[in-house]
Amino acid sequence: MKDNVSIRGSVHTDRIHDSAAKHVTGAADYTDDIPQPEGTLHAYLGVSNVAHATLHGIDLTAVRAAPGVIGVLTADDIPGVNDISPTGLNDEPVFPTETIQFHGQPLFAVIAETRDAARRAAELAEADCTPLPHALDPVAAMEADYPHVTAPLKLERGDVGPAFEDATNRIQGCMTIGGQDHMYLEGHIAFAIPGEDDEIVVHCSTQHPSEAQHMVAHVLGVPSNAVVVNVRRMGGGFGGKESQMNLFCAVAAIAAKKWNRAVKIRPDRDQDMTATGKRHDFVVDYDVAFDDAGRIEAVEGSFAARCGFSADLSGPVTDRALFHADNAYFYPNVRLVSRPMKTNTVSNTAFRGFGGPQGVIVAERMIEEIAYATGQDPLDVRKANFYGGAGRDLTPYHQEVEDNILDRLVTELEQSADYRTRRAAIVDHNLGSRILKKGIALTPVKFGISFTATWYNQAGALVHVYNDGSIHLNHGGTEMGQGLNTKVAQVVAEAFQVDFERIKITRTTTEKVPNTSATAASSGSDLNGMAALDAVEQIKARLVAFAAEKWSVAPEAVAFKANHVHIGAETLTFAQFIKAAYMARVQLSAAGFYKTPKIHWDRGAGKGRPFYYYAYGAACSEVTIDTLTGEYRVDRTDILHDVGRSLNPALDKGQVEGAFIQGMGWLTTEELWWDDKGQLRTHAPSTYKIPLASDRPRIFNVNLADWSENRELTIKRSKAVGEPPFMLGISVFEALSMAVASVADYRICPRLDAPATPERVLMAVERLKKA
Ligand code: MTE
Ligand code: MOS
Repeated sequence: MKDNVSIRGSVHTDRIHDSAAKHVTGAADYTDDIPQPEGTLHAYLGVSNVAHATLHGIDLTAVRAAPGVIGVLTADDIPGVNDISPTGLNDEPVFPTETIQFHGQPLFAVIAETRDAARRAAELAEADCTPLPHALDPVAAMEADYPHVTAPLKLERGDVGPAFEDATNRIQGCMTIGGQDHMYLEGHIAFAIPGEDDEIVVHCSTQHPSEAQHMVAHVLGVPSNAVVVNVRRMGGGFGGKESQMNLFCAVAAIAAKKWNRAVKIRPDRDQDMTATGKRHDFVVDYDVAFDDAGRIEAVEGSFAARCGFSADLSGPVTDRALFHADNAYFYPNVRLVSRPMKTNTVSNTAFRGFGGPQGVIVAERMIEEIAYATGQDPLDVRKANFYGGAGRDLTPYHQEVEDNILDRLVTELEQSADYRTRRAAIVDHNLGSRILKKGIALTPVKFGISFTATWYNQAGALVHVYNDGSIHLNHGGTEMGQGLNTKVAQVVAEAFQVDFERIKITRTTTEKVPNTSATAASSGSDLNGMAALDAVEQIKARLVAFAAEKWSVAPEAVAFKANHVHIGAETLTFAQFIKAAYMARVQLSAAGFYKTPKIHWDRGAGKGRPFYYYAYGAACSEVTIDTLTGEYRVDRTDILHDVGRSLNPALDKGQVEGAFIQGMGWLTTEELWWDDKGQLRTHAPSTYKIPLASDRPRIFNVNLADWSENRELTIKRSKAVGEPPFMLGISVFEALSMAVASVADYRICPRLDAPATPERVLMAVERLKKA
C-alpha cells in the first residue's frame, strides 16, 4: 500500500469516472456526434401493425415516391444470410419474408437524404397479409401450445416427491413478474461507412462489438476481417445493447454497401421501445414445503417466460432465473424447470441481472409466505434458511457455496439500520394509523458471477507504451457509464506505478482486440482488468530484464515506484526509463489475455460450477402506503453491499445506488402493457414510468462491506458490482407487501404481483380488507 501513496489513481481508491465532466458538459462523443462524411444517408424502419400474420408482400410504391427517398431495403437486398440471431438458431430474420411475428416488427427500411424524410416515408407502406391468431403472454402461449424458443432447463437435487408427501406445511402459489424497458438515455444507433472492396466500418452503440462485427459479416456475406466495429461509449446499455444492435448494424451496413454511401440509423424513442427486446416477464408456479420453524424442506418451481418470437438470449436468461431461484437459501429437495415460451411479441433479451432477479424474487416471496404462515418476522425465516452449516451448502445446480458472508453482512445491516426497533415501531404505528400504513423489509442477495456460457469467460487487451512514456490502453470491454474504463486504467496505473493521467483510454474496436465477449454478466472489470494486467506484466518483464542487464543488477533490484523506476542505487523517471528501453530496442507493446479458471457447466445434467464466485448484499427498506389511493413512497433504505476489495469505492457505490433504484423501478412503477392487438401501449416516457429523483428513498444510506475480500484470485481481490445490487430493490417490494398485510393484521401474506404499481397495491389492500 505504501508504494501507492504518491501515484494518483491507484486501485482501491476513489477516482472520478474518467468521462464524468464530459458527460455533464456535453463534450463526451457518442455515435451520433461523429462528423458525417459528405453524402451521408439516413435509414428508418418500416414496421408491421399486426401481431401475427402470413405475409404475402409489401406495397412500397408510395414509400419510394416520397420526397427525399433514395430507396428501400427489403429482405431481397441482403447479400448474405437473412439472420441476426445471436445464438445461431437461425430464427431471427433482419426482415421477415413469410410470417409477421409481432406488432411493430421491422419489415423494411427506407433510405433517404434526411432522417425526417426516411421516417415519414416509412409510414406509407401497405403490407399484404392474412392475420393469424396470436399469443402475447406465456400463459396464452402455453394454452395455445406454442413451442419453447429454446430447450428448457431442469435443475434437480434430492427427491421432491416424498418431501412433499411428508411435508409438515405446504404452500402453493403463482406469481406474475413484469418485464422492464432498458430506458438507456442514448437509444440504439448505427453508423456505417463503406470502404474499398468488401470493407466496412460500423460505429454503433453496443455492449458486444465482436457480435456486431460477426453479424454484419454474416448479412453481407463477407468474412469478419472485412468488418470493423467501433464503440467509444454508450449512453447506457443495461443489457439492451448486448444483441439488439444487430438489427441496426445490419441495416446500416447493407444500405451503406448497396449505395456506397455512409448510412446512419437512429430510431426514435417509441420505435426503440417497440422494436427492441426487454426484460422477460415471468409467470412462476411455486410449491414449497417447510417445518413448523419455517425451515424449507422442498421447493418445486416452474418458470414460464415471455421470450418473444425468437430465442435471442432467452435460453441463458431463463437458465439464470433457475440459477437464482434459491437466492441465499438452501433447498434440501428441489426441482426447478424453465419454460422459455415463444410469444407474438418483440424478442426479449438481456437486462441487468439477466433473469436472476426474476428467480430471486420468487425465493423472497416464498420466504414471506412462510413467515406469515408461521407468524414470524420474515428476517428470522430468511436467516433460518441461509446456506451454511453441515450439509447445507449445495445449490440446486450442485455447486457448493464456499464463500457465504451473508450471516455477517445481514447482521451488520440489521444493526446499522436498527431493523428490529424500527419494525416494532412500524407495527405500533400501523395500529394507530387508519389510512397511512408502513412496512419494512430486509432482503439479501447472492448473485453468481461468470457467464454460464463458459467460453464467454475470456478477454483480451492491448497495451502500448510510447517512447515518451505515455500509455495507450485498449481492452475488449465497452464503456456504458459503469466506469469500466476507469477501473481498468487504474489497474494499469497501479501495475506501472504511474499516474492515472498518463494513460489514454481509447475506444473499443474489433481491430485491436478480437473475439471479445459482450461486456455483460457484470464481469467487465474481472475479465478485462486481468487481461490488461497480463499485458502490462509482459511489458514489465521485458523492461526488468533490460534494466537488470544494462545496469548489471539482479532483476529484484529493479522496482517501479511512484512514477519512477529504481535500478539498484539509480533512479530514473518513468519517461526517462522508457526512452532508454526504446533506444535499446525493447518491445513496448503487448497483447494480454485472461480466462476465468475453475468454471464448468454441464447443462444436460444440470450440474457443475457455473460461477467462479458469488457477490452478496442486503438492503433494508421502509415504505409508507396510502390505503385509499395505493400511492406510496420509500422513506428510508439502508444498503450493505459486497464488492470484495473495491477497485474504486466511489464508482462501486454509484453502481449500487443506480442498480437499487433501477430494481426498485422494475418492481414498482415500470409497467409494460400490450393491448389485445399485441401493440405495446407503454412505448415512451409519457406512458412508462421510470423512477425520478423524487422517487428515491428519503433517507438513503449506502455502504460497501469494506472488510470483504474475494477469496478467489480475481483482479485485486475485487468482486463484480454491475448487476447484483439490482436485486436489492426487492426490499422495497417486500416492505410494500408488509404495509398491505397490515390491513388484515398480518394474518395473510398478500399475493402481490410485480410491478406493485399503486393500482396493484390498492387492489391488494381492497382484497385483504374483505378477507
Ligand atoms: N451502469 C451504467 N451506468 N450503465 C449501464 O448500462 N449496465 C449494467 C451494469 N451497470 C450499466 C451499468 C449491466 S446490465 C452490466 S452487465 C454491467 O454494468 C456491465 O458492466 P461491467 O461488467 O463492467 O460491470
Ligand atoms: Mo448485463 S444484463 O449482463 O448486460
